[in-house]
Amino acid sequence: MKGTLSVQVISFANQKGGVGKTTSALNCATSLGVLGKRVLLIDLDPQANSTSALGISKNAVKLSIYEAITGKAKDVSSTIIQTKYKNLSIIPSNMSLASIEAELSSQFGREVFLKRIMERIDSLDLFDYIIIDCPPSLGMITVNALVASNSLIIPTQCEYFALEGLTQLMMSVKAIKSRYNPELNITGILITMFTPRYKLSQEVLSELEKYYFDIIFNQKISRSVVIGESSSYAEPLYYYAKYSKSSLEYLEIAKEIVERLEGF
Ligand SMILES: Nc1ncnc2c1ncn2[C@@H]1O[C@H](COP(=O)(O)OP(=O)(O)OP(=O)(O)O)[C@@H](O)[C@H]1O
Ligand SMILES: [Mg+2]
Repeated sequence: MKGTLSVQVISFANQKGGVGKTTSALNCATSLGVLGKRVLLIDLDPQANSTSALGISKNAVKLSIYEAITGKAKDVSSTIIQTKYKNLSIIPSNMSLASIEAELSSQFGREVFLKRIMERIDSLDLFDYIIIDCPPSLGMITVNALVASNSLIIPTQCEYFALEGLTQLMMSVKAIKSRYNPELNITGILITMFTPRYKLSQEVLSELEKYYFDIIFNQKISRSVVIGESSSYAEPLYYYAKYSKSSLEYLEIAKEIVERLEGF
């Protein structure tokens, strides 16, 4: 179900830091592009990790998602950068986004700024998927992302407190769904940095499965050094090491996403 937009908008969110949001958003975006979908990645984090991971210098970015949200860019389309990777464009971020929470806080309709941008991008008919890389918080930036999305993917590690974190996030999703965005659905929980031989990983996974079995993606993302390497070379996995286990795992996830959202 795409609701009122014809583009699928997927937020990768988890208020916990370092769980693999950026790695997953970037590599799912790349993999969807490889599968033939036209993809726009939106870096919605002032840390600008997705931007850097695509080899774009965040200090050189003049037109970012900040200018799009605040209306300082002439048009949203001027903030879109086409990458050298198949079917992949990005709206970059930089530190200027850090002030947005304060700037929006007193404004009327502060929850729907990004939603308006999605509507504008949708009207351009350039993309099948928009992937949003969220910052590690449940502040106004993430609220904007969830209000603007029809799909949420939650990357999580199998470690202590994962379940508590998810419960808190689910409560926020429920509140946003009922107040602002009934079209928001959880497409899946994505297990990242998985090490099956660790007893703790297995224990936490079975705990998570007790509550969320039906939404956890079948494919898990293993912990792997290739992932660190590919980001230090500023290349998505598919282009850094096409046949690596990690690259194939993210391709599998992209296929599961298409299956869950498009029904085949
Ligand atoms: N499967 C994996 N195997 C090994 N390392 C990984 C894996 N996934 C992510 N990492 C590494 O873990 C770190 C955190 O990942 P990432 O930046 O994707 O998390 P994040 O949730 O976006 O973080 P933040 O909350 O700061 O935005 C990075 O150094 C990344 O390279
Ligand atoms: Mg990140």
